[in-house]
Amino acid sequence: MKVLGIDIGGSSFKAAPVDLKTGRLLAERFRVAIESPCPRDEGLAAAHQIVQHFRWKGRVGIGFPGIVHDGRIGAVGNLGDEWQGQNGARIFAKATGCKVGLANDADAAGLAEMRFGAGKGRDGTVLMLTFGTGIGSALFYRGQLVPNAELGHIPWEGEPIEKFASAAVKTRLDLDWKEWTDRVNVYLRIVERLFSPDLIIIGGGVSQDHKMWFKLLHTEAKVVPAKLHNDAGIVGAALAGV
Ligand code: BGC
Repeated sequence: MKVLGIDIGGSSFKAAPVDLKTGRLLAERFRVAIESPCPRDEGLAAAHQIVQHFRWKGRVGIGFPGIVHDGRIGAVGNLGDEWQGQNGARIFAKATGCKVGLANDADAAGLAEMRFGAGKGRDGTVLMLTFGTGIGSALFYRGQLVPNAELGHIPWEGEPIEKFASAAVKTRLDLDWKEWTDRVNVYLRIVERLFSPDLIIIGGGVSQDHKMWFKLLHTEAKVVPAKLHNDAGIVGAALAGV
């Protein structure tokens, strides 16, 4: 089955059609830049533009950067308050003219890694963390997802810890790898104390630079980069479309 996967991030919508049997992208990814925070009309227009670009008529799956319950959007991290409380599956279906399935973006990326990537065949507790504008998390036990774990929102010095250790913070404060990884170590120490994962899979753009910083991590669990790299979000979004 082929599904158009749309991964919504803090600064862009990224999309490609995906073969769900293999987890492969079937065309070059297409990216639409958005404002941050992103007004609802702009986001819906971006989804429309993507569907036009691929001349897509089939199913669409969306990875959304906030809590998603049965297609309905709950608390939103960085995309903007206008999205909260919306029936996401319905408004995106209206904007695209396609059937739409919606899931949290990190849950989607985690599902893709569990099915096709670094988590394949892994039992026990597996935690997928995505470092981008925020920190996304997907928690699995024996391959089963516990949806909407929001481990980027663990409080730290009065704010969600993603405001302290996301990849966007590295860029904004111009931290070098050591300075930023020290922050990630603070974060992972808390997460390990709470969940004792057997494996931590790291995704997001910075996972491609893993050689620069994984050696500076002090975790009990094994830490591996996402095998699908940045495509995990798109492939996972497509999985959410069925
Ligand atoms: C949101 C999460 C999302 C993560 C990564 C956080 O701010 O609360 O739902 O998974 O950012 O986009």
